[in-house]
Amino acid sequence: MADSRPIGVFDSGLGGLTVAKALRSILPNESIVYFGDTARVPYGNKSSNLIKEYSLEIADFLMKHDAKMIVVACNTASALALEELQRHCTLPVIGVINPGAREAIKATKNDHIGIIGTVATVSSKAYEKELQKYNTDIKTSSQACPLLVPLAEEGWLEGEVTNSIVKHYVSPLNDDAIDTLILGCTHYPLLKNVIASQVNDNTTLIDSASAVARVVKESFLETDQLNDSDEKGMLTCFVTDIPMRFEDVGQRFLGSPMDHVQTVHDI
Ligand code: DGL
Repeated sequence: MADSRPIGVFDSGLGGLTVAKALRSILPNESIVYFGDTARVPYGNKSSNLIKEYSLEIADFLMKHDAKMIVVACNTASALALEELQRHCTLPVIGVINPGAREAIKATKNDHIGIIGTVATVSSKAYEKELQKYNTDIKTSSQACPLLVPLAEEGWLEGEVTNSIVKHYVSPLNDDAIDTLILGCTHYPLLKNVIASQVNDNTTLIDSASAVARVVKESFLETDQLNDSDEKGMLTCFVTDIPMRFEDVGQRFLGSPMDHVQTVHDI
């Protein structure tokens, strides 16, 4: 039984478009309803209660838009609100933490994994807890990198300033001799080249956006819920503030232009 309903994807803002990009690349026929909470971004320095409250409101919005699954593209919301969302929603909800952790476990050879993310994601220890489920001997080193989100949004994806900020953040992880690094934030895939240039040689970078997209595909194959239409899926975007900036900056994250972004005032 094919299912033409859209995938609901949400993020605190435009960063989750990296997840929409990964989904569109491996599931081109699926339609996506994307919700970016641009009025209340960033989530990365907010309390867990507030992140849960916002996430539940957005999930209700996506359910009203007939989503067949909700993908929590935001690492911070996945880290702090996933269980609440799964209890609350009447459809499958997938976050980015488990897929990223699983790929990291597969990649590591010395069982020492690094995690970078927002302050809220790193303090939640969500990645560490997930990694421990697969291997209790795993060692972890983590680092909050609050300056990387604005750098990615401003398009400072290379150059002296960006190199030195990334170096500052990843040096302690290099000293700990991690061999795998989880990019635990929607924005970091854009900074992948700089991050790769600053970590020890032979460190594997794990992009949770691609990891979650593969899990979504597996899940639809298992439940026979792939959209079997021959047509390319549609991307419909909703934001809570300033759609123009979302369109403008967001195209770098999505890898293609977008328009007709709609503003929601009464989430
Ligand atoms: N989307 C957030 C994340 O992946 C980063 C931006 C924010 O702090 O809201 O953690």
